[in-house]
Amino acid sequence: MDFAKISAYIESLYEKRKLTQKQYTEDTELKNFGPVVDDDVARMLQVLITLTRPEKILEIGTSIGFSTVSMAKVIQQYGGKIVTIEMDVEVAEQAAKNFEREGVKEQIELRIGEARAVASGMAEEFDLIFQDVGDKKLYCAMLEDYLRLLKPGGLLVAEDTLFPVFDFDSEYGDLTQMCESLDTFNKKIADCPQFESTLLPIGDGLTVAVKK
Ligand SMILES: C[S@@+](CC[C@H](N)C(=O)[O-])C[C@H]1O[C@@H](n2cnc3c(N)ncnc32)[C@H](O)[C@@H]1O
Repeated sequence: MDFAKISAYIESLYEKRKLTQKQYTEDTELKNFGPVVDDDVARMLQVLITLTRPEKILEIGTSIGFSTVSMAKVIQQYGGKIVTIEMDVEVAEQAAKNFEREGVKEQIELRIGEARAVASGMAEEFDLIFQDVGDKKLYCAMLEDYLRLLKPGGLLVAEDTLFPVFDFDSEYGDLTQMCESLDTFNKKIADCPQFESTLLPIGDGLTVAVKK
């Protein structure tokens, strides 16, 4: 199968959409930020949200907020809320400006701080957690947090989970540690009796898991 051809065909079907990763990043003043999700992952999040209508979403790793805005555009239609965590203050400030620009700031609460520290102080429950934090060790380290913070039937969605099988160019540096962390996470989720899960080959790999 020619995956580049498949991907180009799928994207051609959605090219008339207003909110795209390319346009969003071009409209963002700050140019140095953590990578944002691909358009196919943004659409998958929107499909999952439309299907399950989560009232409260927790996002771990905001960057400039492309995934946050993609989700907020859907929850805005029925009054849901997103809490999103980012530890880089400059990037978080840019995300806040973007939320205002995109008309979704009322839907989003941005918490600036280290993800585990912020999550450990949370008592509220969520219907969906989107894990996209830059520090991939946290994917596993936060497993207990997902179970504590997710309602039964809630969704855990985790991005970048196919990193362990990618051939990365050396220009990205040594990503061995990151890939090992994600491989450990993938094995734990696959074996975890509290989750029903699968790993979809979209974006950089998207794990979707339902808390039983
Ligand atoms: C891949 S980006 C998030 C992209 C965003 N979800 C999107 O698609 O628009 C990951 C972000 O995690 C942040 N980050 C890394 N380690 C963190 C930590 N320990 N706590 C909070 N944020 C962290 C980085 O600063 C970066 O902005």
